[in-house]
Amino acid sequence: MEQFIKETSQTLKERIGNNPVLLLISGGVDSTVAGALLLKTLNSEQVHLMYIDTGLMRKNETAVVRTILEKLGAKNIHIVMAEEEFLSALKGITDPEEKRRIIGDMFISIQEREVARLGLPQEYFLAQGSIRADFIESGLNNDKKVNVVKSHHNVASPLVIAKREAGRIIEPLAQFYKDEVRELGRFLGVNEEIVSRHPFPGPGIAVRILGEITKEKCDILREADAIYIDELKNRRCPAGKSLYDEIWQAFTVLLPIRSVGVKGEGNNAERKYGWVLALRAITSKDGMTAEVYPFETRDLLEISARITDSVEEIGRVTYDISSKPPATIEWE
Ligand code: XMP
Repeated sequence: MEQFIKETSQTLKERIGNNPVLLLISGGVDSTVAGALLLKTLNSEQVHLMYIDTGLMRKNETAVVRTILEKLGAKNIHIVMAEEEFLSALKGITDPEEKRRIIGDMFISIQEREVARLGLPQEYFLAQGSIRADFIESGLNNDKKVNVVKSHHNVASPLVIAKREAGRIIEPLAQFYKDEVRELGRFLGVNEEIVSRHPFPGPGIAVRILGEITKEKCDILREADAIYIDELKNRRCPAGKSLYDEIWQAFTVLLPIRSVGVKGEGNNAERKYGWVLALRAITSKDGMTAEVYPFETRDLLEISARITDSVEEIGRVTYDISSKPPATIEWE
């Protein structure tokens, strides 16, 4: 890692000189580690980090990202709050592919607008956190979803195409596998919370709220998801690891149905309709196939009880017991 950093530092300095570099940060492992690497190897004044809060992020995500970037020595952090734009564009939309298309297009147009607003000199370089798998997937994988993701966020946005044609794209993690990116991140002092984070889809919780997306549903899902993840981090598997580290990806899904429940006891018991939440937890190597995580029943019962006790809009919790294939990891 030391050798890699030394060599990267030299190559980047030769290539970039004193020009500014812009990196889009998603809050995930790859782009954050790419940011840490740029900050370590270049003058931090040169490095511009842009993060777009789509309103479809996890609980406290934006605050966590900002703190982590500041800790890494970032001087130019541009946080764009775009929740209203995304939610109004998604109003009334229920079709999963339509949601993805709207989010991807909106992401690109906001990105272009905000980059222009920064007023960087023409010669600036665009950095990306693409890793080895991104190149493999975009070249070989015909799964439409993967292609859409890559085309929107990594490979083919107009900004990326223009910079690539101008020879001004930097992809310092291109030779790395995910576990190596994690190792590099630790070496660079990136917070463990980010380094060991589960994968998160580009369209965010939009593909975890089935049917129409509203701010209210986003808040309910975020609350339940934060509890679920907190429980997984605090519970241990028999070998001693936390369940979170044992599981490849875990998240909650808000279903577009409400079911009958009861609130209170005895004479005070009242009938109520609560939303139905599904828990997902899978083990996998690369996300291409996945097995359901075999929780101890007690864990599931306790997690479910904490969620329904804390998030009153949720009346029922289910566990998704489908592998991939035939089911996909995300529900949409
Ligand atoms: P699926 O649901 O296709 O997911 O079994 C496989 C892996 O990819 C992630 N995923 C996405 N990632 N944009 C992304 O960046 C997307 O649109 C997207 N859809 C799925 C998913 O979370 C899982 O890790």
